[in-house]
Amino acid sequence: MSVATLEMKVLDFGRDCKTYLLWDAGSNEAAIIDPRFDHVPDYAAEVESSGLKLKYAIDTHTHADHLSGSDRLRNLTGCAIVMSEKTKSKVPDYKAGDGEKLKLGDGELTLILTPGHTPDSMSIFDGSRVYTGDTLFIGGAARTDFMGGDAGQLYDSFRKLEALGEDVEVWPGHDYNGKHSSTIAAELEGNPHFKADKATLQSMHKIKGDLPANMAEILSFNSEAGLPEDKIIRPEDVAKYGTPGKDFTLLDSRFVDEFEAGRIEGAVLIPLPELHDRWAEVEKLPHPIVSVCRSGVRATMAMMTARHAHDDNWVLLQGGMQAWKKAGKPMVSDTGQPDVITSKFATGGSCAAGGGTCSAG
Ligand SMILES: [Fe+2]
Repeated sequence: MSVATLEMKVLDFGRDCKTYLLWDAGSNEAAIIDPRFDHVPDYAAEVESSGLKLKYAIDTHTHADHLSGSDRLRNLTGCAIVMSEKTKSKVPDYKAGDGEKLKLGDGELTLILTPGHTPDSMSIFDGSRVYTGDTLFIGGAARTDFMGGDAGQLYDSFRKLEALGEDVEVWPGHDYNGKHSSTIAAELEGNPHFKADKATLQSMHKIKGDLPANMAEILSFNSEAGLPEDKIIRPEDVAKYGTPGKDFTLLDSRFVDEFEAGRIEGAVLIPLPELHDRWAEVEKLPHPIVSVCRSGVRATMAMMTARHAHDDNWVLLQGGMQAWKKAGKPMVSDTGQPDVITSKFATGGSCAAGGGTCSAG
């Protein structure tokens, strides 16, 4: 019997970080590649409204620049988390070897180990498209200067991708250049990293970039454990904690201008970059702590700092102030009309070579 062609949808919500949903139209069995933690409710809604059964959440590598949503998707849907057999992450249910296949109904995904960006980097081939994670970007390449990266291995991985065939479409984990997809042929033609010989690629990747911001917190979340569902609350749950400052603490980890523009009454401000140095203050605050930021990402990272300090009495306000506002809950402000302003905060940096993130390019 021939292998069915899989359907695919990009679920990026306008970000440069790409998440892919693939499914077999006959059985509705689905897999998601590189989900983000802050968008898990959106993915779950997409899966449910499409009538899909999420079978796998696949992380192309241990991400250092964003929080993976795989662990939470597993909690919500029962899907299995798949990563490379080279990973040191404690999170996956299954660690795949090179060339292993995952079945989705009558379709299948082939897992291709493509170390270089990290030792545990993996690409996923669906028969006509290859999802390259942070290994190959359009016109660029992954950075190899941290987390055990190796430009020589990246070269060898590029040749495995090249061997898939010139017509194969390339769908990367980021689109730093504003392009969504390419082909192996186009990358061989125009990508200086992909077409370089091994020695040239190694010399192109000698420059070290900055480490991604909050890397320790992100790795703690991605490779040790995420958050169980009983540590995640919704805006309507906050009132049951009592009076903030007395019965519990609403700890806001945004920047001061965001806090002043619109916050929950009684919230305490400790911007995430200051949290570690101000930990003695946190210890004196009434617990439990409800961790809040704009969207939930910084608040989750704050919980990782707390985890390392062996303070487990924290919960996350899912969706942060954006969800609070959407729920119609009141805010106070020092600047007039309360609002949730766009943050200057950026996680990661880049995964591309030449950036402070995950790429070279
Ligand atoms: Fe990366």
